Amino acid sequence: MNGKSEAKTDAPVLQQDVDLTGLNTMRVSATAQQFVDVKNKQHLVELFKSGFFERHTPIILGGGSNLLLVGDPQSPVLKISIGGVKIDDIGNGHVLMKAGAGENWHGLVVQAVEKGYGGIENLALIPGTAGAAPIQNIGAYGVELQDCFEELTAFDTSTGTFETFKRADCQFAYRDSMFKNNQRGVYIICDLTLRLRSKNHRLVTGYKALSDYLDRENIHQPTIRDICNAVVAIRRSKLPDPADIGNAGSFFKNPVISAKRYRKLKHEVPELPSYKLDSGDYKLPAAWLIDQAGWKGKQVGNVGSYENQALVLVNHGGATGREIYAHAMRIRDSVQERFGVDLNPEVNIIGEL
Ligand code: EPU
Repeated sequence: MNGKSEAKTDAPVLQQDVDLTGLNTMRVSATAQQFVDVKNKQHLVELFKSGFFERHTPIILGGGSNLLLVGDPQSPVLKISIGGVKIDDIGNGHVLMKAGAGENWHGLVVQAVEKGYGGIENLALIPGTAGAAPIQNIGAYGVELQDCFEELTAFDTSTGTFETFKRADCQFAYRDSMFKNNQRGVYIICDLTLRLRSKNHRLVTGYKALSDYLDRENIHQPTIRDICNAVVAIRRSKLPDPADIGNAGSFFKNPVISAKRYRKLKHEVPELPSYKLDSGDYKLPAAWLIDQAGWKGKQVGNVGSYENQALVLVNHGGATGREIYAHAMRIRDSVQERFGVDLNPEVNIIGEL
């Protein structure tokens, strides 16, 4: 080391007219007039100091796997690429795994499983980044992110400071958190810490598709690795890989209806599947409703519902965001007409319609 400081922080670079096609898994073509690749927390501080957040409410991009761009974003796009993974053994059979918001989610699941840390194996192969995971409280096969959430750090764009949020602060719900609602646009998630188990794993194998798979494979005492492998196999068989075909996972949330509405509908449609919630309301599988309405595997122009999972809208190539949105609205209208049930998008719709 010579006496001069080497600790100069690289400044964030404001890029113009950046093509977003490769940055959203729907593979919709759109251009960001202004774009910044945020590689570290200091970049956010620098942007704040320059008055950026006073002038703009940026669009925050993670893995681009849960959004539909229906036009060119009018606000600058901040791609969050903050990396790094740190594991702390906190004793009593628990570890804390802290990941930069830009880390690939599935990469974290694989790292955890390889080290023997349990808790997120059911969430294997969910596309997207660690920072996006808490925003919609990602979930699959009986597990939700909130089940192993410890805390996150977020940058408050209104004050320029970093804040820590514990589970109780985040208002987690089914595919939901405060970062998707009232605090949308205020906070930028910088890192996520998960509490995982290094022993005495609590395996969640009750989800039908998962238990059927394990039975078929004669796996009666599964390890976390078995579960991870099973989830990967099930997802590969049902869900399209965004590398092959543009999609953003489930397009709609599974709708929830009151017990009263449920009883009436069940009377009209006796074969209606449902899950009773603790609240007494009923959750209906949107995939089933869409499938029954005749959309599964159906293509209109460049857009369609996936052949193996009706809830996934796919871009067969060259579809615009508006085309995909229009298709989604056709599906919504026909489900409303047939069952009187409202479907609401699970993906974030970005841009002016
Ligand atoms: N079904 C149909 N037709 C279809 C697909 C499914 O009738 O084309 C029926 C199935 O038979 C089943 C029900 O619908 O009875 C539910 O299907 P599935 O088990 O595939 O789950 P889902 O409710 O459609 C949810 C999540 C997925 C997650 C799976 C597994 C939502 C909106 N989606 O799908 O998450 O992987 O459970 O846990 O909650 C995502 O969020 O992007 C996502 C893929």
